[in-house]
Amino acid sequence: MSEQKQLTRIAVLTSGGDAPGMNAALRAVVLAAEHYELQVIGFKHGYQGLLENDFLPLCAADVQHILQYSGTIIKSARCARFKEVEAAQQAAAILDQHGIDGLVVIGGDGSFRGAEHLANYWSGQIIGVPGTIDNDLYGTDVTIGFTTAVAIAMDALDKIRDTADAMDRVFIVEVMGRHAGFIGLNSGVAAGAERMILPELQKDKPLTIAAIVKHIERVKQVRGDGSYVMVLSEHQWPGGAVALAEQLEAQHGLPCRPCLLGHIQRGGSPAPADRIIASELGVHAVELILQGQTRVMAGLQANQLVAIPLPETWQKKNPLNANLLRISQDIFNPVKKRQNTL
Ligand code: F6P
Repeated sequence: MSEQKQLTRIAVLTSGGDAPGMNAALRAVVLAAEHYELQVIGFKHGYQGLLENDFLPLCAADVQHILQYSGTIIKSARCARFKEVEAAQQAAAILDQHGIDGLVVIGGDGSFRGAEHLANYWSGQIIGVPGTIDNDLYGTDVTIGFTTAVAIAMDALDKIRDTADAMDRVFIVEVMGRHAGFIGLNSGVAAGAERMILPELQKDKPLTIAAIVKHIERVKQVRGDGSYVMVLSEHQWPGGAVALAEQLEAQHGLPCRPCLLGHIQRGGSPAPADRIIASELGVHAVELILQGQTRVMAGLQANQLVAIPLPETWQKKNPLNANLLRISQDIFNPVKKRQNTL
C-alpha cells in the first residue's frame, strides 16, 4: 500500500459575489473537517483576507445555525490584485506558515481562476466549491445560489405582473447573470414572461427595438389589452432596463416601466435545494482533499458527486436548457403560428 501523507489542517474562504448557500457550504466544510479530525481556519474576505493573513479558527460551534442565512459569515470580496504572480506567491507563503494542507475555495469562475493561479505557486491541494447565483460553471448541474436567485426573480415577476395587469403596462425586469442567461430564462419561464432577452440569444441575433415593439403590439392584438412582462439579463441592452423602457415609452408610446432586481437576488433565506447541494458539495470538497485530489471543483451531475478540473469549469460552457428555450419561444409564445403536428 502506498504511504499517505497525514493531513492535519485545511483552510476555507468564500470569494467573489456571495451566493445564497455559501454559509451552508462553509458549515459542511467545517463539520466534515471535524469529522475527519482536521483543523480548519477561515480566511476572511476571500483572497484579500488571505493576502492580509486575516483569518479565524473555525469549529462546529462557529457554524451552528448559519445555513438558513444568505451572505457568508467569513465575508467575501473581489480581489483584482490576486491575478499577480507576487500575490499568489505571498498567499502560498501564508498558507505554508499556517501549515495548511488543503484550501477550499467557495466561489464562481473568477475565484476558480484565482485558485488555479495559486496552485501554480503552492504545493497544497486546492478544491473549488461552485458558489454563484449565475449558474455559469461547467461540470456541475447547478451552482449553489442559483435556485434561490431564480425563486427571488420569479417572486418579483409575479408581483410585477399584478400591477402590470392592473395598468395594462409593459414591464422590463432586469435580472443578474452577467454573461449567462440562466436566471433570466428560468425565472422567465417560471413566471410566464412574454419575452426574455438573454446573453446567449443576443450573441447570435441581437434584438432590435423594432422587433421588440412588433412583438408587444402583436401580443396586444391577439390578447387585447393587458400586461407584457419582459425579463432582461443585465448588460444586454445599452443603458439596461431603464433605457429600454424610456425608448419604448418615448419613441413608441408604449406605457412601460423598468424594475431592477439587482442584489436582492443574492439575499434572503436560501432555498432548500441550495442548502442541500451546498451541504453535499462542502463535504465532498473535504473528502476530495482526503483522497489526494487537487485543482478540481466538487460538482454534482445527475446526483453523482464529480471532480472537474478547475480550468474546465470556465473554459467549457453549460448551454441554456434548449427545451425551455423552445417551449418559451414556440409553445408559450402567444403570437407563434399554431400547428397540429409535432
Ligand atoms: O457573479 C455574481 C453576480 O451576482 C453577477 O450576477 C453580477 O453581475 C455580479 O455578481 C455583481 O457583482 P457585485 O456584487 O460586485 O456588484
